[in-house]
Amino acid sequence: MTTLAHDEINLSDLGFWSLPRRERQAAFAALRAREHPAFFPELKLPFIKNGAGYYALVRHADVVGASRNPEVFSSEPCSNSIADLPPYLAKYFGSMINMDDPRHAKIRRIVSRAFTPRVLAKLETDLQTTATQIVDDLRQTGPGDFVTQVAARLPVQVICDMMGIPAAVRPMVYNRTNIILGIGDPEYSGGHRFAEHGITRSSVLYGLAQGLSAGYELNHLAMKLARRRRRDPGDDLVSALVTANIDGESLTDQEIGSFFILLVAAGNETTRNAMAHGLHLLTRNPDQRALLLDDFEARIPGTVEEIVRMATPVIQFRRTLTRDHEMNGHEYKAGDKVLLFYNSANRDEAVFDNPDTFDITRSPNPHVGFGGPGPHFCLGANLARREITVMFRELFTRVPDLRSTGRPDRLYSNFINGIKHLPCTF
Ligand code: HEM
Repeated sequence: MTTLAHDEINLSDLGFWSLPRRERQAAFAALRAREHPAFFPELKLPFIKNGAGYYALVRHADVVGASRNPEVFSSEPCSNSIADLPPYLAKYFGSMINMDDPRHAKIRRIVSRAFTPRVLAKLETDLQTTATQIVDDLRQTGPGDFVTQVAARLPVQVICDMMGIPAAVRPMVYNRTNIILGIGDPEYSGGHRFAEHGITRSSVLYGLAQGLSAGYELNHLAMKLARRRRRDPGDDLVSALVTANIDGESLTDQEIGSFFILLVAAGNETTRNAMAHGLHLLTRNPDQRALLLDDFEARIPGTVEEIVRMATPVIQFRRTLTRDHEMNGHEYKAGDKVLLFYNSANRDEAVFDNPDTFDITRSPNPHVGFGGPGPHFCLGANLARREITVMFRELFTRVPDLRSTGRPDRLYSNFINGIKHLPCTF
């Protein structure tokens, strides 16, 4: 393994994100050891209004401190992109994740009831039926790719059921959310891999066009479902969005469309990766696997948390300083950007003993894989936990020899720690 020297670490260099996992982890360990957060100039992208750069918050205390202080560390104008989204993209991707309270809280409240453990308990039978079907199919088809045969199927089905999205358009939804969160990866976006071909005007233009067209199509679907639900409301989330009344006001079409896109993308692109990382972690750590199978019901909650810590399916989100502020000994200026690197916080040796060890009995496990404590803490955390639990219970009961074989085929991204394919056997 080569270890990057301090001055060689550049988180803005897209090539960094295709380095082997251990090299990236060593780089983050070196960044955590610095007295102050490192500042990285932003990658200059044609057609995009770039800022000067950002501080990388890599320690657990900094990620938690910024998350719980949203008045100073704001999610506006943008938390899901390092550069501010141009208006034509913000229209589709600028939902509540990019808003501060009170507007954020009001919008979140419209759907939050659907994600409480009590309401989710009612989904359990549906989850179980889908998981059973997936394992039936796996046993019939035989070993192959764990991601496409198993991990990808449950999350898309569940979120589409919750949204009332008809079966016929679900493959389109899956494909378009893959494009949105895999814009630099040729398999998902069809474009050139930025790291190999460099940032060119044509590769950026192509990526923007892909993102825009995926956003347009999902928005179009949202508008169609919204029209239907206005006439004939049901108990799905699109009905909740169209009938919502916030201080006498309804959501605008743009708010409905971007909320719809946020929910389908977040519901789809995260839990899938947690499951794939989970199988790989359990395969590489046979002692932990044996421990889990020895008492599945008692140990699955700890296993899920440890998978989310080790995998950290969402690598980072951004915050922007609303005023000058000192945190953990560093002075930030109004307008500074910071990136909250959850992957690094989750391996912070100041908080986790042996952070690189997969330990399903770890307790406490204050990971920030679902975000730090604060208003934007993952809305779908309970849903994701249920999905992983039900899927793994079904798999390890009926296909107990299931294992990954070979290396995961990783998504090329500085945002989603994705696995596109994972060979498996049983
Ligand atoms: C293992 C799976 C998942 C991981 C690792 C994950 C991770 C995260 C993270 C890190 C955030 C924090 C964003 C921030 O602080 O700015 C977040 C927010 C969010 N997540 Fe998840 N997520 C997962 C599953 C889901 C699922 C299944 C849904 C279902 C719809 C979902 C919906 C959301 C939404 C809507 C937000 C924005 C909340 C807000 O702005 O108030 N997530 N997620």
